[in-house]
Amino acid sequence: MSQPTYILAIESSCDDTSAAVLKNDLVLSNEVASQKVHEQYGGVVPELASRAHQKNIVPVVDQALTKANITTKQLHAIAFTSGPGLMGSLLVGTSFAKSLALSLNVPLIDVHHMQAHILAHFINDGSPAPKFPFLCLTVSGGHTQIVKVKDYFDFEVLGETIDDAAGEAFDKTAKILGLPYPGGPVIQKLAETGNPERFQFSKPNIEGYNYSFSGFKTSILYAMQKEVKANPNFVKENLNDICASVQKSILDILFKKLEKAVKDTGINRVAIAGGVSANQPLRERLEAHKTWETFIPKFEYTTDNAAMIGITAYLKFLDKNFTDVSVTAKARMKL
Ligand code: KG4
Ligand code: ZN
Repeated sequence: MSQPTYILAIESSCDDTSAAVLKNDLVLSNEVASQKVHEQYGGVVPELASRAHQKNIVPVVDQALTKANITTKQLHAIAFTSGPGLMGSLLVGTSFAKSLALSLNVPLIDVHHMQAHILAHFINDGSPAPKFPFLCLTVSGGHTQIVKVKDYFDFEVLGETIDDAAGEAFDKTAKILGLPYPGGPVIQKLAETGNPERFQFSKPNIEGYNYSFSGFKTSILYAMQKEVKANPNFVKENLNDICASVQKSILDILFKKLEKAVKDTGINRVAIAGGVSANQPLRERLEAHKTWETFIPKFEYTTDNAAMIGITAYLKFLDKNFTDVSVTAKARMKL
């Protein structure tokens, strides 16, 4: 039997510092240090994020190795997120990974963050992986796309947001409502006891499979400003209904285009990926499509994590698709 491949993967594209160790396609450890510092600002403050990554990276990598019971000498490759993301944050992971690979004299593997969100479906965790081709709704804080996945590294973006991402719609609404960052999980929780039909917000009317969330966000802002003028306690008194209505509207927008893509392409294998795919009602709504074969990532592989970087790196390792120390981090990257 051939020797297993051990890969250490590092993710630092936004506000989570994460390190994972994989044995082939199995995750041995997946440690995440989330940065609490951004909560009070209603969004990620890039300068604070990169400083927190610098502070967290050594302990997080150390924890990942300890938990996996692996020493650096056993590693066959070092993987890291090269983009897209915040430059200052990406640079921390990139330079750390480069120096470690150089000192251990093992291959270095650069990983595209959004490819990794999708390829997280191939982590060997007991759940069936989608067969090709499949459609993936990738919904995160920075991206919203409907992707046709033809092979591990063959992606076709059918549609994407022309302005804000779905995660941003949650986060910016939370800010309008005076709720902390990240807004998604807070809005989901408050929505549990709210009436989703109570408020209507403007829905985008945009062609093809593209999305737009900026007009929707502005319509929430104006609606709230108008109500608060009449009753200063309006938000507080109606918070659960507002959150339930906002969440339902975001899901309506997402599913309208996804359903159209399934119908038009005839591909009914449908996966979700990215931080917003942690949303429970979104997961339930996907599963409610009984004629679709649906793929929902485990909760820990939805929001930013290094295990997804590790599985992508393992698939690249099999192809000997390595990079070298001249590689640079990129804030923007095409899928
Ligand atoms: O993928 P991710 O961790 O980071 C990026 O690559 O952007 O996604 C973060 C986004 C945030 O906008 C956050 O509010 C959203 O995912 N999110 C959620 C939930 N958990 C995280 N949105 C809705 N419901 C959730 N339960
Ligand atoms: Zn992400």
